[in-house]
Amino acid sequence: MTTTTSTTTEPARTPDGTPLLEASGVIMRFGGLTAVRDVSLTVNSGEIVGLIGPNGAGKTTFFNCLTGLYIPTEGSVTYKGTVLPPKPHLVTKAGVARTFQNIRLFANMTVLENVLVGRHTRTREGLISALIRGPGYHRAEARSRERAMELLEFTGLAAKADHLARNLPYGEQRKLEIARALASEPGLLLLDEPTAGMNPQETRATEELVFAIRDQGIAVLVIEHDMRFIFNLCDRVAVLVQGEKLVEGTSEVVQNDERVVAAYLGEPFEPEAAPATAGSGPAAEPAPEAAEESAEESAEEAAAEPAGEPAEEGAAEPAAETVAEPEEGRDPEPAAESHPEPTPADPDPEAGPGTQEQENDR
Ligand SMILES: Nc1ncnc2c1ncn2[C@@H]1O[C@H](COP(=O)(O)OP(=O)(O)OP(=O)(O)O)[C@@H](O)[C@H]1O
Ligand SMILES: [Mg+2]
Repeated sequence: MTTTTSTTTEPARTPDGTPLLEASGVIMRFGGLTAVRDVSLTVNSGEIVGLIGPNGAGKTTFFNCLTGLYIPTEGSVTYKGTVLPPKPHLVTKAGVARTFQNIRLFANMTVLENVLVGRHTRTREGLISALIRGPGYHRAEARSRERAMELLEFTGLAAKADHLARNLPYGEQRKLEIARALASEPGLLLLDEPTAGMNPQETRATEELVFAIRDQGIAVLVIEHDMRFIFNLCDRVAVLVQGEKLVEGTSEVVQNDERVVAAYLGEPFEPEAAPATAGSGPAAEPAPEAAEESAEESAEEAAAEPAGEPAEEGAAEPAAETVAEPEEGRDPEPAAESHPEPTPADPDPEAGPGTQEQENDR
């Protein structure tokens, strides 16, 4: 396989962007399996960066390394020049929010309550304040609700604020995940397959939403199998194949790279034999198949999971103020990925036995 160093085709910095996230030499091993091999990636302010690659390429594992769910075997991850802590809720607090490949909402809470949970890292009111319910608590709660409603307006879900999350159509559940992530007021948003299972109209709307998020000053790193979505959206795209970064560059560079075509076809790259068609070849359009596969896999994963598995925040109470240090420190992702022996980042010893909320992965 071609090595990263010899194949990176574009500089990691846009002209006016300053580096926000800098992952350097990230390696993630699970026993004998190396899922991420020496991957470096920078996301600059104002950028939308895509991360693509065939199933099992290590994209989600890389996200997990960025967000404190996994402690990389080697390498470092900094945000605004500071090393990110190996705890998901601290990463969120630092300004990096994410959504999950397998939707993780509080199914039996309302849409508004789900967004309020996402605000807990930005509220100061603690347990005592919540218990005595003084003026500070009420002010903070009112502000949280106001902001949560703004975010529901922004994501087009305001009319469904009082609906139970589990009753939302699939596409809206994905939007709600984004609204919840935005509730932590991030500077960088990581989206893991935000359009999986969506119809073309919903996908198009999500594209607009991501542009709008970027326009609000939030940089975005997005994993997707839908190549049209990725190439329309992204300033820069990195391609992972078997854990390695194969190519990085503009959409045009990546979709014209013959190695990307070969990787998606599962073929070893042979310069003479590989087709050089840009935009119309398999590299430009592997999305429908890949997305379907992904949706099917997600369904299988969900079916394999025990009912009642807690969502990542692990909080049963709706109000953000009542969610003191929720279970983001737990590692929900290994369960979602159905791996028997995950290597989680330091599970939170204070994590409770779970909530009554049933994770509604699809
Ligand atoms: N916790 C874990 N324990 C063991 N192996 C794991 C774990 N998490 C991921 N892997 C393995 O790492 C590899 C990369 O998986 P990952 O889920 O990151 O791929 P992906 O690129 O996100 O794929 P997809 O497009 O299907 O979502 C796979 O071989 C997977 O089985
Ligand atoms: Mg994945």
